[in-house]
Amino acid sequence: MTHLLLISGSTRAASGNTATLRTLAGLTPPGHTTDLYDGLSRLPAFNPDDDEPPLPGPVAALRSRIEAADAVVFCVPEYAGTVPGSLKNLLEWTVKGAQLYEKPVVWIDVANTGRGAGALATLEVVLGYVGAVLVRSACLRTMVTGRDRGPDCTFTDPELRRELAGVWDALTA
Ligand SMILES: Cc1cc2nc3c(=O)[nH]c(=O)nc-3n(C[C@H](O)[C@H](O)[C@H](O)COP(=O)(O)O)c2cc1C
Repeated sequence: MTHLLLISGSTRAASGNTATLRTLAGLTPPGHTTDLYDGLSRLPAFNPDDDEPPLPGPVAALRSRIEAADAVVFCVPEYAGTVPGSLKNLLEWTVKGAQLYEKPVVWIDVANTGRGAGALATLEVVLGYVGAVLVRSACLRTMVTGRDRGPDCTFTDPELRRELAGVWDALTA
């Protein structure tokens, strides 16, 4: 059994990155589980002075959700040439606690062609810094612009759903 924590780097309600992870969650094979992280907007700005017990509640919750996961999947938009500040903030809250150290991680990049390279490069640098293990065989480069969505905002596009099912295949192989 594999338990995946899914972290979107977008706080936008209609986010394509979050919808991608929601679609991935909907494709969870029997016997496996997912947890779509929903706390990005509630994390306080990282402050080393606050990185001591008792930790701020949202930080303690983030750390336990990472600890409970066998692997973490990131789907992150590009803001100003790199990852959104809120996502970088989340990653900074994991440095001292080492929750991502030796944790298998995967990225799904849904930016349009020719976009998003800065975000992906930064994400890989920071994940490398915290000692996460990138499962490159499960990473997916695709696009979501113009793909059909259902009423619950998940993607119904069969090709995209096949690609996302491939992420599960690679992770559970
Ligand atoms: C503040 C801001 C900065 C952005 N900077 C970039 C950028 O540097 N490069 C890029 O390709 N797209 C940039 N974008 C576009 C977003 O990456 C794009 O709209 C993405 O699809 C948003 O993801 P979401 O639908 O998950 O929220 C930016 C958007 C915002 C709001």
